[in-house]
Amino acid sequence: MRQHAPQIEIAGNATAVAERAAARVVARLRDRHAVTLGFATGATMRPVYARLVAATRGGDVSFRAVSSFNLDEYVGVAPQSPGSFHAYMQEHLFGHVDMEAGRARIPDGMAGDIAAEAARYEALIAAAGGIDLLLLGIGANGHVGFNEPGSDFESRTREIRLDEATRLANARNFSYPASVPERAITMGIATILEARSILLIATGPEKAAAVAAAIDGPIAPPCPASALRLHDNVHILCDEAAAAALANRPHNNNRRTA
Ligand code: GLP
Repeated sequence: MRQHAPQIEIAGNATAVAERAAARVVARLRDRHAVTLGFATGATMRPVYARLVAATRGGDVSFRAVSSFNLDEYVGVAPQSPGSFHAYMQEHLFGHVDMEAGRARIPDGMAGDIAAEAARYEALIAAAGGIDLLLLGIGANGHVGFNEPGSDFESRTREIRLDEATRLANARNFSYPASVPERAITMGIATILEARSILLIATGPEKAAAVAAAIDGPIAPPCPASALRLHDNVHILCDEAAAAALANRPHNNNRRTA
């Protein structure tokens, strides 16, 4: 597959990153209302969603014609459970914007047959005509969605065993570390690469090594986010701390700083 240079944009801090990320989503929604978005969860996305909620309340934007697909969900965690990504999305976005019920999709981690649920999810994305803009975070180990290191670049939506480091990083959302789920259902790398455009955001020093590996390291499964260099429409938005280990600060035409 051909390699591409992602557009890299560096903002001063996490607040500036969230503002710019939200502005890009708002611009897309204004440009074309019937849009299919892909959503990520995690702490990085919270301030982005807060700005989208504020923009909706302020009447700047509407989610009425938006369809969405979340990247992932824990297996065996009920949607009502506070640690689930269903609960996260309800709390941070869906509960506050004018999205039509039924158009916001998240994989069902309670499905009896996760392989069947994964196939159903892939079919739903295809039936929606694919994802126009996919928001991505990045794990400190380079994961995207829950595609842990070693994930095949041809992978589709599937069940995956979470790395211990990931379970530890996400333990804050569960009452005690041992209750963090061991498995998740996630869009695959190939599913992610089919999105027409991708916006990855990374903030904080704990993401610096993963961002550098994704951009400067080999394009290979040990760093799942490196697969994004096989896509021709990826925008990476980092704060200074997350960009600190980059070999080349944005100077050339594809990389810009501000
Ligand atoms: C989580 C999610 C990802 C997210 C990443 C980073 O576990 N599965 O979608 O992008 O890890 O999360 P955070 O923003 O909390 O660092």
